[in-house]
Amino acid sequence: MLFASTGYSVGIYDVESFKVDEALADIKIQLQKLKELGYLRGKLSETEQFNLIHKCNTLEECVSGSIHVQECVFENVELKKKVFKDMDKYVSKNGVLCSSTSCFPASSFTDELVHRSQVVVGHPVNPPYYVPLVEIVPAPWTDPSVVDKTRALMAEIGQKPVVLKKELPGFALNRIQYALIDECYRIYQDGIMSLEDIETSICDGLGLRYAFIGPLETCHLNAEGMRDYCNRYGEGIYKVSQTFGPNPLMEGEELQRLDEDICKISPLEKMSERRQWRDARLSALSKMKRVLEESEKAQ
Ligand SMILES: NC(=O)c1ccc[n+]([C@@H]2O[C@H](COP(=O)([O-])OP(=O)(O)OC[C@H]3O[C@@H](n4cnc5c(N)ncnc54)[C@H](O)[C@@H]3O)[C@@H](O)[C@H]2O)c1
Repeated sequence: MLFASTGYSVGIYDVESFKVDEALADIKIQLQKLKELGYLRGKLSETEQFNLIHKCNTLEECVSGSIHVQECVFENVELKKKVFKDMDKYVSKNGVLCSSTSCFPASSFTDELVHRSQVVVGHPVNPPYYVPLVEIVPAPWTDPSVVDKTRALMAEIGQKPVVLKKELPGFALNRIQYALIDECYRIYQDGIMSLEDIETSICDGLGLRYAFIGPLETCHLNAEGMRDYCNRYGEGIYKVSQTFGPNPLMEGEELQRLDEDICKISPLEKMSERRQWRDARLSALSKMKRVLEESEKAQ
């Protein structure tokens, strides 16, 4: 949907052929809904966008001649190795083989490829239609022009690409996210706060400003600059950080208690409605951000 929104022709291939049919049916409904709600991206109509997306019956048909392939198979390194080996046979001279992997560095499944200089990670954030960040992570053998091309393409389709200069376990976003999840889990596990209050600390606290200002500029603005912030609070941050303790293994009775508590707020049988609610909130937020950014640019 994102690639089609700017006029690219998109082929979808899945080893389970019926999943592509289901995806196409779902995309048609989603584009229509986005149009009705005023959240459709790009300048083309929903029908024009839909007509740009088609089913491929083989991997060869999907990969041959493509300028960019976005691999999205299960997060399993052996499977990714196999799929990249297959794609290696069909990729064109200037094509980019981009993996959506959220955990594995590209070096762990592409080392033996003939076209290994053409691989890169383009890690999206779910749901990518509303959360535009994409982490671009090269393998040690990725040609720098592949990083540049991927960054430019992601920006062209309206995403917000960021580049990691080298591979790092979990890339950047998940490292930051895991630090937050770990601490929320510890606070919950130690009975310091209820689940609702932990969630509120983000939704009505940190999350509000982080939608516009990152954590480091937040520090900068909360004092007379970064240096002043660190002079005032640096030692305190260090001392508190030392009390974090070991990283929790999220399992056992504690996990069961958390699962029961979270199902009271968000019952498993209502996940689909809750996801729709999430997507509607995210669309409204990203629309508001776009409007504000455009009016700032116009000033
Ligand atoms: N879901 C997320 O929130 C999210 C976010 C960022 C990145 N990712 C990454 O995206 C990738 C896919 O995750 P997902 O949640 O979309 O998975 P998913 O389970 O929804 O879809 C995976 C698809 O791959 C297909 N598949 C399996 N083997 C195949 C093969 N050999 N050839 C072609 N298709 C094959 C499956 O049939 C399935 O439809 C993973 O690497 C994941 O880490 C997911």
